[in-house]
Amino acid sequence: MNDPQAFVTSALEQLRQGIPDRAIVAASGGIDSTAAALLAQRALGDRVRAVFVDTGLLRDGEADRVGELFRATGLKYRPVEASGRFLKALEGVRDPERKRKRIGAEFVRLFEEEASEFGADRLVQGTIAPDWIESGGALRDTIKTHHNVGGLPKGMRLRLVEPLRDLYKDEVRAVARTLGIPESDRQPFPGPGLAVRVHGAVDRDRLRRARVANRVVEEEVERAVAERRLARPWQYFAVLLDAKTVGVTGDNRVHGEAVSVRIVESVDAMTATAAAVPSEILATIARRITRELPGEVVRVLYDVTDKPPATIEWE
Ligand code: XMP
Repeated sequence: MNDPQAFVTSALEQLRQGIPDRAIVAASGGIDSTAAALLAQRALGDRVRAVFVDTGLLRDGEADRVGELFRATGLKYRPVEASGRFLKALEGVRDPERKRKRIGAEFVRLFEEEASEFGADRLVQGTIAPDWIESGGALRDTIKTHHNVGGLPKGMRLRLVEPLRDLYKDEVRAVARTLGIPESDRQPFPGPGLAVRVHGAVDRDRLRRARVANRVVEEEVERAVAERRLARPWQYFAVLLDAKTVGVTGDNRVHGEAVSVRIVESVDAMTATAAAVPSEILATIARRITRELPGEVVRVLYDVTDKPPATIEWE
């Protein structure tokens, strides 16, 4: 894609041709699905309904921020609170691939319910090229199943429409700017959300820990960027590891959990390098996470691995 404006024009035309009736759009607030939702709304007007699902796997304050983003871009949407059913679907699931599949299946069930209520037969998604390349296929190994690709259950009734499926992340950002999406440099956040940043079992307590750790990483990186102590990294977040580790709080030895901080530079997410972050910023992050989660998280690690061989997310 060379010209984002030309891409938008042809995407609108294809959406009009590809959607004769009504469509639902899965809008997560991420840049990919926001761009897809805006394209669909521009192409089809009231024949499209954007649905934002609060899965309970979102970051701190995210549902509010997404609402503001949608209002600022003029995207009309319907919020759906569904944390109970997603947590239930993840009960007892530790394997990341099964997590993605369970989440994918739950999303589809929910969108089918929304679609039948709205009278839609198509589902617009913000799938981009790395999603399906990494989800594998006849000729590729599966690196991971993106919940919106390999995670889709067989026998899904809705037909998929994916206007961004040939674009890479940097191209989507250019399209988003053309569509007037503010903050188009916002953090990428995986569709399965904190479920893949909580290693092992996912429950409300562990999600809360991951949420606090993530907020601290985001706040400290953004503070360092604002104070010009750090150039804005491409992606930064925390992962709650599936490890029990010993710490001390006051005079007591405690068994707590460990968090890994991931800060990377990348262009298109296909490769990445671990960012060289000054040690005082990392030390502040470690102190704040362990103070805000006393006895719960007792150890903070910094991930120094590039992609490849590691991926950006841990799961
Ligand atoms: P990886 O971990 O594959 O991540 O190096 C590359 C980029 O994709 C994001 N990511 C996901 N996005 N569903 C998504 O929508 C997923 O399952 C998923 N897994 C990873 C990741 O945050 C990074 O920006």
